[in-house]
Amino acid sequence: MHLHKYERIWLIFGISSLVLFLVVLGVGAFYKGTQPPSHLATVDPTKVEEHEAFREENLGLRKVGENDYIVSVIASAFNYNFGKDDEGNTIRKIEIPVGSNVLFQATTTDVIHGFQLAGTNVNMMVEPGYINSLKTTFKKTGTYTLICNEYCGTGHHLMAFEVEVID
Ligand code: CUA
Repeated sequence: MHLHKYERIWLIFGISSLVLFLVVLGVGAFYKGTQPPSHLATVDPTKVEEHEAFREENLGLRKVGENDYIVSVIASAFNYNFGKDDEGNTIRKIEIPVGSNVLFQATTTDVIHGFQLAGTNVNMMVEPGYINSLKTTFKKTGTYTLICNEYCGTGHHLMAFEVEVID
């Protein structure tokens, strides 16, 4: 069968574009360890504080191994609850040593909130009735800002928290 020169060029162009598109999509989806929220666990949104992970004493940063930490957070309009310190004051900032592996787990007592730790792969939705979690490893020191990226009401822009990664 004879193919006209231009027909061949356009065929090659078309197929190449499709392959390029699929490669960009495939690589882009997993670049930087981005992953869809998986292993969803459920929780009664009206009894969140009765769940092991979100009991008062388990909120915030917890060391669970040499280099491993768990951060448990209850989101609600319009704040992130990281628990209280030893003096009973609300925790406004956490400090994590550089190189740590951290599992973030969060839920919400009201509406859907966002949970994005800018500059890391931690970017998930927090939904009532579910425990959403993501792992990250902090390779660089600095201040990371946790923000809500799902519109949740009039105080949406106030939902933020600071994570300090220290030496
Ligand atoms: Cu919470 Cu927007």
